[in-house]
Amino acid sequence: MISTDEQRGLFWLDTPSTSYVLQIYETGHLILLYWGKRLPHEDIRYLYPCYGGAFCPNLFDAPNGYVCPDTLPLEYPTFGLGDYHEPAFYARNPAGDRLCDLRYAGCRLTDGVQTVPGMPHVRAAQAPAQTLELTLRDPRIGVTVRLYYTVFADSDVIARCAAVRYDGGETLVLHQAASAHLELPDGRFEAIRLPGAQCREREIERTPLGAGRLILDSRRGASSHQMNPFLALVRPKTGEETGDVYGFSLLYSGNFRICAEQDQFHMTRVQIGINPFDFAWRLRSGEEFWTPQAVMVYSGEGLGGMSREFHRLCRRRISPPAFARTHRPVVINNWEATYFDFDEEKLAALADACRELPLDLFVLDDGWFGHRDAGNSSLGDWTVHARKLPHGLEPVIRAFAENGLAFGLWVEPEMISPDSELYRRHPDLCLHVAGREPSLARSQLVLDLTREDVRTYLLETLTGLLKAYPIRYLKWDMNRPLSNVGSSAWPAEEQASLSHRYVLGLYSLLQTLTARFPHLFIEGCSGGGGRFDFGMLYYVPQIWTSDNSDAMSRLKIQYGTSLVYPPSTMAAHVSAVPNHQTGRITDFTVRGDVAACCCFGYELDPRALIPEEREAVCAQVERSRRIEPLVLEGDFYRLRSPFAGNDCSWMLVSPDKTRAVVLYAHVLSRVSEPADRLCLRGLDPEKRYRILPGGQVLSGAVLMAAGLIRPRFHGDFQTCFYELQEELANGESQF
Ligand code: DGJ
Repeated sequence: MISTDEQRGLFWLDTPSTSYVLQIYETGHLILLYWGKRLPHEDIRYLYPCYGGAFCPNLFDAPNGYVCPDTLPLEYPTFGLGDYHEPAFYARNPAGDRLCDLRYAGCRLTDGVQTVPGMPHVRAAQAPAQTLELTLRDPRIGVTVRLYYTVFADSDVIARCAAVRYDGGETLVLHQAASAHLELPDGRFEAIRLPGAQCREREIERTPLGAGRLILDSRRGASSHQMNPFLALVRPKTGEETGDVYGFSLLYSGNFRICAEQDQFHMTRVQIGINPFDFAWRLRSGEEFWTPQAVMVYSGEGLGGMSREFHRLCRRRISPPAFARTHRPVVINNWEATYFDFDEEKLAALADACRELPLDLFVLDDGWFGHRDAGNSSLGDWTVHARKLPHGLEPVIRAFAENGLAFGLWVEPEMISPDSELYRRHPDLCLHVAGREPSLARSQLVLDLTREDVRTYLLETLTGLLKAYPIRYLKWDMNRPLSNVGSSAWPAEEQASLSHRYVLGLYSLLQTLTARFPHLFIEGCSGGGGRFDFGMLYYVPQIWTSDNSDAMSRLKIQYGTSLVYPPSTMAAHVSAVPNHQTGRITDFTVRGDVAACCCFGYELDPRALIPEEREAVCAQVERSRRIEPLVLEGDFYRLRSPFAGNDCSWMLVSPDKTRAVVLYAHVLSRVSEPADRLCLRGLDPEKRYRILPGGQVLSGAVLMAAGLIRPRFHGDFQTCFYELQEELANGESQF
């Protein structure tokens, strides 16, 4: 997988279908020669034909007097010596200058994955992995940067991170240390990103890359609704199944930045890591700083190829192994059913209404603690609401248990309400700057997770709850971004490190809690999908994809999310109509079909279900259990983009290609609709599949080349859902 060609100074990182080839240039700088389709090992040093550029300074010791750092495809560029691109490393030296010159100082090859202290990282799995450590050093200022590359025998993803060590005497202030940086040899790219907003997460936007710097980032303290930590660079003709894609993502849940820069020679540099904006980390002599881990993939098989690589990586090497590929409880959540307006009696009635519905678990959402009757109080006081639930949680848990449902609880541990006992006793526990009133959002403040005492308080409080009650499932919410990022626990010179320390604090809390309660299932949430990233997915198997539960909106949200994250990480529920977010009315079946390929559940008042809907719930849950293996392990194919037209379609195919499910959704009704065939993907052309509903048997070859004829719909917002099962030679299928 990884080999070194010492004579030529080359490092070959080969994955099953790709090669990533680095060279120690004659000046000692590390450069990228090639990344793309897998290559035979030949002498490819010709690929960097050293050239200079007008108005580009030359390196002082260039062998022929003529090497510009600005035109070298540097793997970890620095600042100050004549490279005008975005540096991967930028720090203020004790003398006040910011110059740094990192040159190759050694390598080490190890078996296994690279871990990152205190942060999520790709996990060891069955298939082997190897890690290459490349050391770069600037002895003048005592800086050593170790670059780590992990490759896997079963994946085209490369995981990267960097560790910065300082041995220069006085303190170095680090402002920028990329997780990964690289240069691609031309500029013929389009950039695909996932911007959004609350209730409108991860919309796909594709634009020409163009000259200059494209910055995708978050400054909100969380990865954010507004921009997901993801970028794909694609060739203009790249589609779902063909064409080159370079995809990048980060195992990090805080302020990130991705920079894609096309320079004067149309070379493209890409960089991903912690956002250098408002970031400073002081390193004393002998100290190290680790970046979060980035994951990157080249696929020659279009966006679908990239997504399936990321999906497999997430399921096998990021998600918590105990839950990644095991049964997900079908939940019913009371948020949209009651909001804050519930009490013991109402919950008992909800439990009663769940009788004979084949649901697994009830989640008691916001409002069960302190004196929380609206969104403006009690966060931090995690004791049961005495008026609403005078006998504690036990009767609620019992009522649902009697109807066959386990119990889950909503918490928002990272927050504190000014109207809370905790705040009255310890107003300094929130993020704040002394002498300045902190800004409220949803009437709440953010607890200072950079403080160990705060983390200990939260750990003990959550432990108390989890020990007191049979809670199988936590919904871990976070309903505001960070602001007033200051802490009374840290000296002035550390204040610009707090956004990162907050994320480290969160990870440490999640790590300890999940180790203490290994059977606890946690669903992530941040006002829906405001922190939907590989960092969180290291600790939680699934995330509430969006607070927008409208089926037509969900087509876009789930389709966009699938670019990076597998369906097994996306929680999707059937909710009531008119939909609470959009006011739209869609059919119960349509709502079920759109949610079916994700972690399925309900977000409605079971008392309001009419008999036909109760029957539909039974059928939907039965289907969800039937198709769950595909949701957990299947390959996902996007067939029609809701961003491109009036319909949307996706499908899941089992790894052995014996089963598949297909969703087709049609948004607005049109008269005299153009004829249309829906070509499927990912099937085995040789296999024959029985298709339900209908029972027709067709080969994979026909289904993929000629396609299905989908029904003519009458009315807006329609769906059809197909299940395909291999038909064996004896005419049997396993339906
Ligand atoms: C935001 C979540 O996304 C909702 O599902 C719900 O849990 C509310 N918070 C509760 O405050």
